[in-house]
Amino acid sequence: MTTTTNDIRSAFLNFFKDRGHQVVESSPLVPRNDPTLLFTNAGMVQFKNVFTGAEHRPYNRAVTSQKCVRAGGKHNDLDNVGYTARHHTFFEMLGNFSFGDYFKADAIDFAWTLITKDFGLPKDRLLATVYSEDDAAFDLWKTVAGLPDSRIIRIPTSDNFWSMGDTGPCGPCSEIFYDHGEGIPGGPPGSPDEDGDRFIEIWNLVFMQYEQQADGARMDLPKPSIDTGMGLERIAAVLQGQHDNYDIDLMRFLIEASAHASGVDPDGPHKVSHRVIADHLRSSCFLIADGVLPSNEGRGYVLRRIMRRAMRHAHMMGCREPLLYKLVHALVAKMGGAYPELARAEALITEILKLEESRFKQLLERGLRLLDDETADLAAGGVLGGEVAFRLYDTYGFPLDLTQDALRTRGMTVDEAGFNAAMAKQRADARKAWAGSGEAATETVWFDLKERIGATEFLGYDTESAEGTVAALVVDGRPVQTAQPGAVALLLNQTPFYGESGGQMGDAGEITFVNGARLSVTDTQKKVGALHVHMGVLEGGPVSVGDAARCEVDHERRAAVRAHHSATHLLHAALRHRLGDHVTQKGSLVAPDRLRFDISHPKPLTHEDRAAVEAEINDRIRANLPSTTRLMDPESAIEAGAMALFGEKYGEEVRVVSMGEGEGTYSVELCGGTHVKRTGDIGLFKIVAESAVAAGVRRIEAVVGAAAEHYVAEHDAILAQAAETLKAPVTELPDRLHQLLEDRKRLERELSDTRKKLAMGGTAAAGPKQVAGVAFAGKVLEDVPAKDLKGMTDEIKAQIGSGVVALISVVEGKASLVVGVTADAVERFNAVDLVRAGSVALGGKGGGGRPDMAQAGGPDGSKAAAALAAIEAAMAAKAN
Ligand code: ALA
Repeated sequence: MTTTTNDIRSAFLNFFKDRGHQVVESSPLVPRNDPTLLFTNAGMVQFKNVFTGAEHRPYNRAVTSQKCVRAGGKHNDLDNVGYTARHHTFFEMLGNFSFGDYFKADAIDFAWTLITKDFGLPKDRLLATVYSEDDAAFDLWKTVAGLPDSRIIRIPTSDNFWSMGDTGPCGPCSEIFYDHGEGIPGGPPGSPDEDGDRFIEIWNLVFMQYEQQADGARMDLPKPSIDTGMGLERIAAVLQGQHDNYDIDLMRFLIEASAHASGVDPDGPHKVSHRVIADHLRSSCFLIADGVLPSNEGRGYVLRRIMRRAMRHAHMMGCREPLLYKLVHALVAKMGGAYPELARAEALITEILKLEESRFKQLLERGLRLLDDETADLAAGGVLGGEVAFRLYDTYGFPLDLTQDALRTRGMTVDEAGFNAAMAKQRADARKAWAGSGEAATETVWFDLKERIGATEFLGYDTESAEGTVAALVVDGRPVQTAQPGAVALLLNQTPFYGESGGQMGDAGEITFVNGARLSVTDTQKKVGALHVHMGVLEGGPVSVGDAARCEVDHERRAAVRAHHSATHLLHAALRHRLGDHVTQKGSLVAPDRLRFDISHPKPLTHEDRAAVEAEINDRIRANLPSTTRLMDPESAIEAGAMALFGEKYGEEVRVVSMGEGEGTYSVELCGGTHVKRTGDIGLFKIVAESAVAAGVRRIEAVVGAAAEHYVAEHDAILAQAAETLKAPVTELPDRLHQLLEDRKRLERELSDTRKKLAMGGTAAAGPKQVAGVAFAGKVLEDVPAKDLKGMTDEIKAQIGSGVVALISVVEGKASLVVGVTADAVERFNAVDLVRAGSVALGGKGGGGRPDMAQAGGPDGSKAAAALAAIEAAMAAKAN
């Protein structure tokens, strides 16, 4: 009976579960807890801190089936994949772990029982190796497993001392080998021909005892522990009677899917290519499912290399159309059960593979032609010039290993030193161009750093806590090796902190170090488009480049920023619905407590507009739409309805954020920011202000979630206070206020009338006197508003019939003066002249008006009587 790979995985997990082990999920391929590691390369990676005692779990025995990628870094299998029987970039590692619980005896007993009893492997086909000094392990293989001395082999080399990387937990190990029999060439481990294929290592038991420090010291772990690793593909090969990992059911299924999709014989001359594709398909899909996307930096570049390498093999088989994306479904069918994250990401993976394949296809064809031309005259064993390899890299997107792989079957190599020299020259040229471009000198430090340490890897789409290594420190604008407590800008190789960009504010939070130092991050900025610079004040000790750092983003703040950012997308869509398609984004700010969104629109939003926009957004929030992010090239994204953002520069690939799915898609935008999972997370949306920022540009300010709640509560309190003051229920406030304003208007009218009456009554009583042969009515009033004086003057003019009227009102010590002349008298007396005479007396600068009515003011109200006298005198002077 053939046991499938899926069955073997389950059998392994169950065997240890029955023996008190907690079944723990595979950790992601991007290690969250280890910045020194490119990818998770062994089962123990997620338990690294448990071994060292820094972390505690509620169990001390665990079992996993761990996704591993070995491509780049300490364990790198990339170059060999496809050409050998047992190299993979992606594989599954089955492992059982003891954290200070059982040690060597039980580990050996469990392993032996599983493979000989449950898996039924014949004992005489098995051998074990031990580290040469490890007598205890040697004895246990004799007593527990009953192996004869001849089949327990002492190995003095590092082969039997396992370490995860340059630092971390490590220890001597003991490996179990399976003998495929005499028919296959090769000697036992430790013998000169051990590299043959007869004796195959199937399980590695590591007796974790030490922690390797960066400075070379090796410390004892708090308690001896166990870490084991059995390659699922290897044990499946043994149990399925195969000698080659690529012949197990799972790999064969993928190879046949590749053969079917390409129409190329799986076992013919293109056998290697099918194997490369099957392997690279697995690593690409699993990496994408764990958040890695193809790019030109760091992990993303390793992924791109793997993908492009597979694409070249597809091309070699004669495929002219993208192939890999067609195989995703087959992989998900086989492995999506054990790894649900793969199934969940199927659509994303398919899309990204297709995108990368379509884009690279043309370059690949042209690059391969160039490669053919350049190697036409080279014999086997020849060396391709580094310049050419660099041109292929720079112009055609050929990773170096792709070129090397292409030359491999022809027995040719690349001049790597020449390649590196060409790369260095290009960097130097870019640097010169930068220096000459007149960019702010202060930014040069960031440019230099980017060149030296490369782009910061942003982990913050998937996580808000992670570890990183200090890549650079900048104090007072200058890079330093060690920063003392105080203000510092800190860069890590990877970080969950979002750097301010696309309107979204940078993250705040905390970064801590092993020596107890702590950087409280107040802001994270993005420099030269690639570096996340953590700004803050360092406390509690110095920090140096190379130190390990633990990052914790301020979760509450990030959640609030996320909600405001997603709300901005909803706002954009709602505004276009309500106001029209002329509405485009002109700028935005996304903060934890508010959002600001500028749009092109010619006039203020009406109250109805605001209410309709709010209602539509809150409705879409309650619909709890899923928010999804996909990667596309800018053209397809815009075709799919994405609204490109003003002033943003888009690279070859863009993130496309959608709210809602299929028919229910509400908003699609190009955006690199962080977003809610579902719109319901936004809570409540409330516009708080609307204003003009420039001709044709309106600014809308809004709040969501807790900030919106706070805003509403604050306004409620204001209303309650008003109701209290007016002694009326809140619902009656508008009527009551209206009433109050009406009352006030009426009272003002009445007051003004009364004043007039008083003033005129006084005048009438005093009666006008005769000056220069006409009637002159002059009067000083108290507290009559200046605006009422003209009306009163007209009335008095009517009363006296013919003559001159002069009214002065003193309000708060200052005087206002109006002079009126009846129509029949303007021939003789000009109101403007008279008002000037009065104004001078009041300390003013003269006034103005028409011959029949003029007005003026003066600072000195105490001179009112003198002003009237001056007007009289001016009239008298006319009479002469
Ligand atoms: N960590 C050990 C290995 O990867 C088990 O081989």
